[in-house]
Amino acid sequence: MNDRYQSFSSSPIGQMFVKNLGLPSPEKLDRWHEGAPLVDGTVVVGGTGRVDVVSVLDGLGIASTTKAAEGEKYKGLVFDATGLTTPESLVALQEFFTPLLRSLKGCARVVVIGTNPTQTESTDERIAQRALEGFTRSLGKEIGKGSTVNLVYVAPGAESTLDSTLAFFLSPKSAYVSGQVARLGLTGTKKAGKVADAAKPLAGKVAIVTGASRGIGEQIARVLHRDGATILGIDVPQAASELQAVVKELDGDFLTLDITAKDAAQRIAHHVSEKFGGVDIVVHNAGITRDKKLANMAEDRWNSVIAVNLSAPERITAELLEQGLINKNGRIIGVSSIAGIAGNVGQTNYAASKAGVIGFVDAIAPTLKNDITINAVAPGFIITAMTAAVPFATREVGQRMNAMAQGGLPVDVAEAIAWYSSPGSSAVNGNVVRVCGQMMLGA
Ligand SMILES: NC(=O)c1ccc[n+]([C@@H]2O[C@H](COP(=O)([O-])OP(=O)(O)OC[C@H]3O[C@@H](n4cnc5c(N)ncnc54)[C@H](O)[C@@H]3O)[C@@H](O)[C@H]2O)c1
Repeated sequence: MNDRYQSFSSSPIGQMFVKNLGLPSPEKLDRWHEGAPLVDGTVVVGGTGRVDVVSVLDGLGIASTTKAAEGEKYKGLVFDATGLTTPESLVALQEFFTPLLRSLKGCARVVVIGTNPTQTESTDERIAQRALEGFTRSLGKEIGKGSTVNLVYVAPGAESTLDSTLAFFLSPKSAYVSGQVARLGLTGTKKAGKVADAAKPLAGKVAIVTGASRGIGEQIARVLHRDGATILGIDVPQAASELQAVVKELDGDFLTLDITAKDAAQRIAHHVSEKFGGVDIVVHNAGITRDKKLANMAEDRWNSVIAVNLSAPERITAELLEQGLINKNGRIIGVSSIAGIAGNVGQTNYAASKAGVIGFVDAIAPTLKNDITINAVAPGFIITAMTAAVPFATREVGQRMNAMAQGGLPVDVAEAIAWYSSPGSSAVNGNVVRVCGQMMLGA
């Protein structure tokens, strides 16, 4: 399932075509591989505010400087905008970024750190902090060359929880995440959990991944395992042999069941309790589409999509929480979709279910105890068996209509889930981050 347009557009003749016709020209995105540094280069740090960015980067082993040198190329820019308290002070963004943007290497990372507008102290400050969203989303659309731009709102007092989030947004792990806003300390400031071993942040953790036999779920299992977790993969009985092959490779465990079955939540809880005594990470990845315009939608198409994508995750989560099987500093992760944010023709059922996943996160996040968090990813166009079934023209448009001019890979979704899963991400709660290459559709 390769991207043939991307291969063509990077060939010599393709480059000529693309240039002359003004067609999109997708950059080959850097992706992280085991053993690579988080950032392959130096990050320039600017701004004045509450965050000691240089120390955070030092702690992560990322080289940084506050003084850019003439002629030097940089791999990232971090601007602490928490000190901007009036609309006029926003000019500091222009003063910092304009001279530096031409000094960036390809696939560079830009992160702006701000204060959640609802946690500001004056009207002027609230306006200035809210303005950062427009700034970062626009820069994301114009920066090009496979680079990304994201905004991190950190609650006053939660500055020490930035590590895992900066590690994600500055590294190639966030290759397909741009124009996003992450919020830290939404439900009050939480202490970041300890990451004992940066190479295996999930060592000793048990992770459930539903729909783990293929596509995005398989990649989630692989990435969480790479980071040290023991995987319990779940999928339907029809996918048993593929599921077994995946978990065998990962030295994990499996359970075959339909998550919509009446007793599915109890069976999962029983299995977890017997085998592991509890679970640390629950990823509700299994999902289906049954597309039809609403005028032609049969009731069973509607019901099956809601049952798999929405009711099952809700029931399984409730059962695990009720039985106290989600360990301290546990993680619950939903998989929403860009369709749930922007809507999509033929997908009223699917978009309702995926918007419902966001409602689920919103409802549960403030109720969780023991540093357990719930967040969701909202993938855009990710190249999998699900999207291979999309008709050619729709698929081409879907793939190009984003700031990266290409579809994402399952690993891109998995990396975002690994960031949420990190013990260091306990301040990341109630977030919905899109993994969509900054799709042009929707908010
Ligand atoms: N591929 C994309 O572009 C994209 C975009 C947005 C969101 N998503 C979401 O990402 C998730 C994974 O998508 P994918 O593209 O890998 O899909 P996929 O169809 O390749 O994989 C889905 C997996 O879920 C399993 N599954 C389905 N129903 C189940 C049930 N009742 N019980 C247990 N397992 C069940 C399937 O057997 C399969 O292994 C889904 O929730 C999907 O909605 C995908």
